Amino acid sequence: MRIFSGIQPTGRKHLGNFVGAIQQYVEGQQRAVDHGDVAIYCIVDLHATTVAYEPRELRERLYDTTAILLAAGLDPERCVLFRQSDVQEHAELAWLLCSVTSHGDLNRMHQFKDKSAQQRELVSAGLFVYPTLMAADVLAYRAHDVPVGDDQRQHVELMRDIAIRFNARFGAGADGEPQEVLVVPEHRIPAVGARIMDLQDPTRKMSTTGGSVEGTVYVLDEPAAITKKFKRAVTDSDNEIRHDRAAKPGVSNLLELLAVSRGTSIDEAQASMADARGYGDLKTAVGEAVIEMLAPVQERYAQLRHDEAALEATLAAGAEKARAIASDTLADVRAVMGVGPVAAG
Ligand code: TYM
Repeated sequence: MRIFSGIQPTGRKHLGNFVGAIQQYVEGQQRAVDHGDVAIYCIVDLHATTVAYEPRELRERLYDTTAILLAAGLDPERCVLFRQSDVQEHAELAWLLCSVTSHGDLNRMHQFKDKSAQQRELVSAGLFVYPTLMAADVLAYRAHDVPVGDDQRQHVELMRDIAIRFNARFGAGADGEPQEVLVVPEHRIPAVGARIMDLQDPTRKMSTTGGSVEGTVYVLDEPAAITKKFKRAVTDSDNEIRHDRAAKPGVSNLLELLAVSRGTSIDEAQASMADARGYGDLKTAVGEAVIEMLAPVQERYAQLRHDEAALEATLAAGAEKARAIASDTLADVRAVMGVGPVAAG
């Protein structure tokens, strides 16, 4: 079972990214090896150019993200970790897949609607075809399993449609039966923590863009800042610590965070608060659990981040392994699409 996921090198990584995605990446690297395959993780700098950005800052954030992923436990000996723009097959495949991507489907993407509304000067064509590049990321590796948070569900559904349409259109074998040139992938969305909400507004997801700084806990936040943000978290006016997303979004979000940071179920997290005197105790408990979960990551990050040459070397080695897989897929895609010369041999 091959695993692929991508993460943008934009902004500062937050708890949503950490529990919704990064923890699943770390867990996935061993699962893939156990199945005789590999987990591939990509820092998607090309996606980051689809909205207004500072070129110099993009590189800084790319190193930040690389160091966070390594600090969280990705091991380049056991997985493939690389930068998207180092493997040019992604951009080529994205273009080729445009021929089987429906304009109407792209128009329906929630993320496009949200992000295009936030742009002040230009809604780029890149933002519109963003999901096709994302499909190319995964399909280039014929990956089966795509660990993501809930907000990427629609994008993964679209990449499945793209793969199915590609196989139907171009995959006819000599006997006329469709062949699986591209693998149709599936999302892997965690049962708990797939949608971490903003602490100041628990009806909207924690996010790099659009959220509040006070409501967003960053992976690299100091313990005092984390404590403060949880203390000020918005809850509700009764006093009952109970998981119920619809009726009690703030308290439910805190209980989910307590569960994932302690590595327990939501029921266990709720039961552990049976003697609490009120929401204050819950907020203190979550703050402590999150600080404890992030402490080793922050410590390791501080050791890794300054050595950009070492980070570059890690990314370059990963890109070489990635390219070997992606170039194989691209050769097949070009051949069945009739693009370029007939392959030798
Ligand atoms: P990005 O960089 O916005 O987010 C990285 C991962 O974090 C998850 N996530 C969350 N999970 C739970 N709660 C939240 N509040 C929260 N916020 C973010 C996201 O679901 C994601 O898994 N388009 C992708 C990057 C991408 C990609 C890919 C992903 C590019 N190519 C191929 C998978 C496969 C994105 O913008 O993620």
